[in-house]
Amino acid sequence: MKYFIITGSAGLIGSECVEFFIKKGFKVIGIDNDSRKKFFGKSGSIFKRRKQLLAYKDYKHFNIDIRDKKKIEEIFKNYRSKIKCIIHCAAQPSHDWAVKDKILDYEINSFATLKLLDLFNKYCPEASFINVSTNKVYGDNPNKLKIVEKSFRFEVERSSKYYKKGIDESLSTDNCVHSFFGASKLSADLYVQEFGKNLDLKTVTFRGGCLTGENHSGVELHGFLSYLVKSIIHKRKYKIFGYKGKQVRDNIHSSDLINCFWHYFQNPKIGRVYNIGGGRENSCSILEVINFFKKNYNIHLETEYFEKNRVGDHIWWITDYTKFQRDYPKWKIKFNIEKILQSIASYEVKLIQ
Ligand SMILES: NC(=O)c1ccc[n+]([C@@H]2O[C@H](COP(=O)([O-])OP(=O)(O)OC[C@H]3O[C@@H](n4cnc5c(N)ncnc54)[C@H](O)[C@@H]3O)[C@@H](O)[C@H]2O)c1
Repeated sequence: MKYFIITGSAGLIGSECVEFFIKKGFKVIGIDNDSRKKFFGKSGSIFKRRKQLLAYKDYKHFNIDIRDKKKIEEIFKNYRSKIKCIIHCAAQPSHDWAVKDKILDYEINSFATLKLLDLFNKYCPEASFINVSTNKVYGDNPNKLKIVEKSFRFEVERSSKYYKKGIDESLSTDNCVHSFFGASKLSADLYVQEFGKNLDLKTVTFRGGCLTGENHSGVELHGFLSYLVKSIIHKRKYKIFGYKGKQVRDNIHSSDLINCFWHYFQNPKIGRVYNIGGGRENSCSILEVINFFKKNYNIHLETEYFEKNRVGDHIWWITDYTKFQRDYPKWKIKFNIEKILQSIASYEVKLIQ
């Protein structure tokens, strides 16, 4: 039998990976201790999602902390070469939270990743290791691009090499403010590359922009689009932090991201790094999302504006995913931005009916 280990298995990306790979005929070992509840409170808990996953007979859940090397090693020892892939999705995912407990943020995001890589190398080096990283590894370097202000969004200048397709992997990760979250994720990202390039292992790190979908337990501190749409549907006041609400993000639906993992798994390469996101077509600003719901559904959102932006927050980020597409030309994005917004909204509407 072939096994996948998925960390953060009840979170947004992890839980969809579980369902996807079970449908593909694999058995899945999930590791998630609902740290998300600890980070963000009850509304951030993945409790419900975990319950749904437990219904799959091919799913085995371990309610343990990824920092606990002894317990994690037991799993690797038991399954060894039956493990075909590790998808590492567990993380402390918020930059605002990281500043409150830098050590814990580092231990989860960075040190635990190193421990996992070490176990992967020791027990199942023929497997693939897929790491979910972030565009915050580039810190606030994107904010140094020449940016112009439009009515509802900021935009990079047309003359910029990033205008057409967005930002690729050539952007420097140095000489910038990362946020403590960005720093711990960059450290993990480098270790994943190092285990690939130095030890000739099949590792990949995907630097995600905004990963989203109806299964996201979006909260104020993490899950921008999910939280914004929830606020709109549930008529909750929404706080905008800086940049006049014109900050731009590109969004990728979780199922499109998981499809990247599938393509990589079928044809893994050594020590790869890819920017991944929804690209220019899937980009939006906060104001544009608010306007979308106003125009199409006549729903108004009450907002409160705070002048100070979040530390290291991007003014404009659009992902150039050309490098991944070049290596995996059969991968295509299926969810455009309207479809993403509608899927999150209709899920939330169902919850209140
Ligand atoms: N959602 C986004 O917009 C986004 C953007 C870029 C990168 N990422 C990265 O993608 C990955 C997955 O993100 P997500 O949106 O699914 O996050 P998520 O918070 O929904 O899922 C992460 C899961 O990891 C679990 N977890 C955290 N610490 C743990 C620990 N010490 N032990 C065991 N389990 C633990 C949490 O309980 C949670 O269920 C993360 O690495 C995140 O940094 C996310």
